[in-house]
Amino acid sequence: MSSLLHTGAILAASISTASALAAGLTLEYSLEKATQGISISASGRKFLSQRYSTTLPPIAVELLADNTTALYPNAAWNSYNASDPSSDPSRQFVSIDGARIGPDGRYWLVDGGSSGVNMSAKLVGVNLANDTVDKIYYVDAFKGDDTNIDDVRFNPNTGVAYLSDTAGALIVLNMTTGDGVRVLVDDPTAVAYFPMMYNHTLVPGYGSDTLAVGLDQIEVSPDGQYLYYQPCNGGLWKIETALVDATLTNATLAATLGDHATAVALTPSTGGSTIDADGNLYFSDTNLLAVWKVTPDGYASILVQDDALVWTDLMWVTSDKKLWLPASQMRPGGDGLMADGPNNIYSYPIDAGPSPIDHA
Ligand SMILES: *[C@@H]1O[C@H](CO)[C@@H](O)[C@H](O)[C@H]1NC(C)=O
Ligand SMILES: *[C@@H]1O[C@H](CO)[C@@H](O)[C@H](O)[C@H]1NC(C)=O
Ligand SMILES: *[C@@H]1O[C@H](CO)[C@@H](O)[C@H](O)[C@H]1NC(C)=O
Ligand SMILES: *[C@@H]1O[C@H](CO)[C@@H](O)[C@H](O)[C@H]1NC(C)=O
Ligand SMILES: *[C@@H]1O[C@H](CO)[C@@H](O)[C@H](O)[C@H]1NC(C)=O
Ligand SMILES: *[C@@H]1O[C@H](CO)[C@@H](O)[C@H](O)[C@H]1NC(C)=O
Ligand SMILES: *[C@@H]1O[C@H](CO)[C@@H](O)[C@H](O)[C@H]1NC(C)=O
Repeated sequence: MSSLLHTGAILAASISTASALAAGLTLEYSLEKATQGISISASGRKFLSQRYSTTLPPIAVELLADNTTALYPNAAWNSYNASDPSSDPSRQFVSIDGARIGPDGRYWLVDGGSSGVNMSAKLVGVNLANDTVDKIYYVDAFKGDDTNIDDVRFNPNTGVAYLSDTAGALIVLNMTTGDGVRVLVDDPTAVAYFPMMYNHTLVPGYGSDTLAVGLDQIEVSPDGQYLYYQPCNGGLWKIETALVDATLTNATLAATLGDHATAVALTPSTGGSTIDADGNLYFSDTNLLAVWKVTPDGYASILVQDDALVWTDLMWVTSDKKLWLPASQMRPGGDGLMADGPNNIYSYPIDAGPSPIDHA
């Protein structure tokens, strides 16, 4: 009897430990599907990108008031089937990765496409006023053979978009013309200098190799002056946007842009990043299951750490000064990059709202 009681007490203690989150960390949503990213519009509409399924391609959905989800902008965009010749890779999502509301209020989706499939790699803009795709930029003309576009940030002051290319490069896009240039190609600041870490060890069981991912996270400072970027294993750099933008018209500069990079902070293996109105950067840490804060002058510290923050990816800052944290549950391992759940989205209080040139 006494030993039974003892066992019961331990069980109760371990359950309460497992459910207690780090101070300030709040569970906002528990969803059916693994959620990589969240964007919240000025009017409060919530959009999710959902990835890491063994059976389903990545999808975009709107999270409705009754907590159900609806394919966004519609089912057609989310119904690409590589085996079906009537599927159109130029007008359907082939492999969504980055997804976010931009400073112009559109919901922008970065489709990495499929290697060898023309017009599948693209940046797609959905007009939230009528839930219709009204801008598409294809990157075929300036991508590399191994290009995998994966996220986007904007400089609304100059009408330029920056797309990360995990092959180890940056694509600079003139949003007026759709012209672009691929820069920092294989630059030491853009390639992975080390494999990624996950939950205290090197990423396990990724094929026969470790997982090394080049330039992935990008942010623009709230004053538009700097572009920050890093390979996925960390190592944060910045370059003046004036120089980055000038690569669109100056081939000499395009070939030597890396010479202008300044080191900012030694960030960790990262799932996703964001920036606030004061220019503080946030990086999810896939190794320590945490979120780092890096100030504009490069002071780096851990903001919150919790075992629940499994591969936090595309974060979002709201005007009530909360950082929204989708724990994508990406769990590298023998079965590939899969999610086991629980598919939770958390929030955490911060000291600033969204950057005016980042979020709508
Ligand atoms: C939806 O989920 C949120 C967060 O968990 C909760 O506050 C709200 O009551 C839910 N709404 C409905 C209609 O179930
Ligand atoms: C994809 O297309 C092929 C060929 O038309 C078809 O056999 C298959 O059922 C489709 N898959 C899905 C998930 O619709
Ligand atoms: C893709 O485009 C290239 C260049 O226009 C062309 O040579 C190639 O045949 C196209 N491939 C397919 C599968 O349509
Ligand atoms: C949606 O709104 C945009 C911008 O006003 C417009 O260009 C487009 O034609 C509209 N699409 C539909 C289907 O109404
Ligand atoms: C983008 O193209 C437009 C139209 O040619 C041009 O006026 C503008 O200067 C270009 N932007 C950049 C950053 O090169
Ligand atoms: C992380 O590793 C620890 C052992 O170090 C293990 O107990 C835990 O389940 C792992 N968490 C995840 C999310 O894989
Ligand atoms: C192009 O960039 C190079 C290298 O930074 C610079 O020396 C040159 O002045 C630039 N050319 C123009 C026309 O701005």
